[in-house]
Amino acid sequence: MTDTIDNGAANTGRGGLRSRAWFDDPSNPDMTALYIERYLNYGLSLEELQSSRPIIGIAQTGSDLAPCNRHHLVLAQRVRDGIRDAGGIPIEFPIHPIQETGKRPTAGLDRNLAYLSLVEVLHGYPIDGVVLTIGCDKTTPACLMAAATVNIPAIALSVGPMLNGNYNGQRTGSGTIVWKARELLAAGEIDYKGFIALVASSAPSTGFCNTMGTATTMNSLCEALGMSLPGSAAIPAPHRDRQECSWETGRRIVEMVAANRRPSDVLTRQAFLNAIRVNSAIGGSTNAPIHLNAIARHVGVELTLEDWENHGADVPFIVNLQPAGEYLGEDFYRAGGVPAVMGQLLAKGMIDGSALTVNGKTVEENIGGQTTRDVDVIRLLDAPLLANAGLTVLRGNMFDAAVMKLSVVSDQFREMYLSNPDDPEAFEATAVVFDGPEDYHKRIDDPALGIDESCILIMRGTGPIGYPGGAEVVNMRPPAALIRAGIHALPCLGDGRQSGTSGSPSILNASPEAAAGGNLALLQTGDRIRIDLRANRADMLVDDAELARRRAAVEADGYFFPVSQTPWQEIHRDIVGQFDGGAVIESAVKYQRIAEKGLPR
Ligand code: FES
Ligand code: MG
Repeated sequence: MTDTIDNGAANTGRGGLRSRAWFDDPSNPDMTALYIERYLNYGLSLEELQSSRPIIGIAQTGSDLAPCNRHHLVLAQRVRDGIRDAGGIPIEFPIHPIQETGKRPTAGLDRNLAYLSLVEVLHGYPIDGVVLTIGCDKTTPACLMAAATVNIPAIALSVGPMLNGNYNGQRTGSGTIVWKARELLAAGEIDYKGFIALVASSAPSTGFCNTMGTATTMNSLCEALGMSLPGSAAIPAPHRDRQECSWETGRRIVEMVAANRRPSDVLTRQAFLNAIRVNSAIGGSTNAPIHLNAIARHVGVELTLEDWENHGADVPFIVNLQPAGEYLGEDFYRAGGVPAVMGQLLAKGMIDGSALTVNGKTVEENIGGQTTRDVDVIRLLDAPLLANAGLTVLRGNMFDAAVMKLSVVSDQFREMYLSNPDDPEAFEATAVVFDGPEDYHKRIDDPALGIDESCILIMRGTGPIGYPGGAEVVNMRPPAALIRAGIHALPCLGDGRQSGTSGSPSILNASPEAAAGGNLALLQTGDRIRIDLRANRADMLVDDAELARRRAAVEADGYFFPVSQTPWQEIHRDIVGQFDGGAVIESAVKYQRIAEKGLPR
């Protein structure tokens, strides 16, 4: 490897390794003996602990509760082999499980909890460097946020996507198939058993969702940021290459500790801007701005939604994966994965090739000259699926900011809502307001609501405070009667999130949310809403005097705010910020690069 040794800021323990302060400190024999005896008890030898070999943590996100990442339990063996081969001592430890689809009320609640606990572990134990085992949606940002805060040498290892799903010869993508199947169920074309069989077909192996959902997005962006080895994100979980990559990752972290290569060297503003552009090119999830902005805030890089508007907008969308496209994870890997995307962007000057990555090389050294091996799966930049594919950031009198992913808007939707020659890219609709997903499920098929294609469905009470953590519920299916009549999507808007595996044309992540006093709380069923995608605006057509009257009434009654069910829900509501700022724990942001400030007491 090409890294130069830099012991400047590494000198936080004897010999430049922070673990020496635990295991080899003659000035403090009492504590050294206490630390040593317990790790000897685990089976390590005195020689291993006192020969100045780096202690490498393996932050294990896989478990029986977190099946998307469970294969990391197997891969960790190869990571250990790599660490040993390079002269390090592996110590594997669990982090709080986060499984996207299994955790109620929402996995969003657990990202910041896992972040907090990983910060404590990385800071408070004798760990010189860490392998972050990433995969399922929130595991990637939770790990990167913690590594950013502590800033000890860190490298991420993706668990890889599942193999492709298949049902009667058709590709079925995990997550995405659910949205399709619920339409078929609502339309009476399949029954409950058929529904389960269709959805289960999409998940044929270990690994994370095989669609371009939040998992593939975040693992790809982690690679684009330079925090994992080049070419590693797309390798399917069961492939042998994934084992080899795990071994390489283990070897590399030992070298990174020797070179004192820290997250702050890699997670620079240029790296984040590269990731924003890659997100446009892959058609990444609307959760990406939340998570990347959160990582940036913890490493102290200025990154805002304006950066997503300014830097992502003119990048073509070229990765033909579901939900916006046709293919799945295995196809993405065979077509070249993230390097085939970044190589093309680099050739067109759309990303900065000088950004440093965890292997000690620059982006250009890693992926320069790479291009697609299958122009149907990863298109060429001049024959894209969509020309200007960035996320659109909308503003208006309902919120300060919300995002919309135009790459998933269907032709039918475009035809119905965005093709009026007198008012192109704009439409008006009548609001039908739901206070949380329970309210929506109870009432969506009620004919008395009179929902038709002139309506916009509103979901509120589902932001970081309202549904604590922020629920992926803004993408709402139309009433079954409308689906039977051939209307597959209505416009949706809300203060919650949307699953990255969903192809709904929704306006999401509205900040500030209703539960934080945002104007969305003042909206009423029957109000007219105007969306203008040229002006990037979304407004309720309600005058200011009426809004003031409603605000007074809402403040007198209190916002819709379901009770907390656990201690963390209550704590989280008090300390979390809004989606546009990454929904981080606001008081945590001031703690940056804490390993450089010295050892724990
Ligand atoms: Fe875990 Fe999709 S639910 S990766
Ligand atoms: Mg999700």
